[in-house]
Amino acid sequence: MQKDIKEVLFSAEQIAAKVKELGAAITRDYQENPPVLVGILKGAVPFVADLMRAIDLPLAYDLMAVSSYGAATRSSGTVRFLKDLDMSIEDREVLIVEDIVDTGLTLKYLTESLKNRGVNSIKTCTLLDKPSRRRAEIQPDYNGFVIPDVFVVGYGLDYNEKYRNLPYIGVLHEEVYKGEESNSL
Ligand code: IMP
Ligand code: MG
Repeated sequence: MQKDIKEVLFSAEQIAAKVKELGAAITRDYQENPPVLVGILKGAVPFVADLMRAIDLPLAYDLMAVSSYGAATRSSGTVRFLKDLDMSIEDREVLIVEDIVDTGLTLKYLTESLKNRGVNSIKTCTLLDKPSRRRAEIQPDYNGFVIPDVFVVGYGLDYNEKYRNLPYIGVLHEEVYKGEESNSL
């Protein structure tokens, strides 16, 4: 897999340190009412698993799935709803945990739809922010790293369901997806 990676952006150690920082900030901010973490499948799984253990509060977590991407590396602009939450979030402080905010369409759609369930508050926590490609007006409340307009994989992030298990975050070689991208825009 390593040969498909052009450059490592964040090592496992750098990610772990950043997740600790985010966990400490969330712990401080939610002292009164612990949050429900809502992890977005599948990309946010490693992040939410590490983040929840960095938060020193009696929290709950759940998972949901939406999809805005086919095999493409660019957003199609449509968000499909694939799996709903198992638990009620009425009167709860909801913190959506997502791997990356790119165009912002996914997070915007998610916050708007979960807002309608009688929540007390709704905030977002992303590991990566790619602000250069934003199309929806949304800023994560917590974010780990700001990155340039490059396609990254690892630590949950995939290309065609591959590379999610890399322990670091790296930039994918263009050759890996060249030719496919134009078909699936
Ligand atoms: P948005 O709706 O454009 O903000 O897209 C968010 C989703 O797109 C993320 O949850 C990822 O699944 C995917 N995505 C965006 N950029 C990347 C990337 O660089 N690598 C892998 N997946 C990405
Ligand atoms: Mg995703």
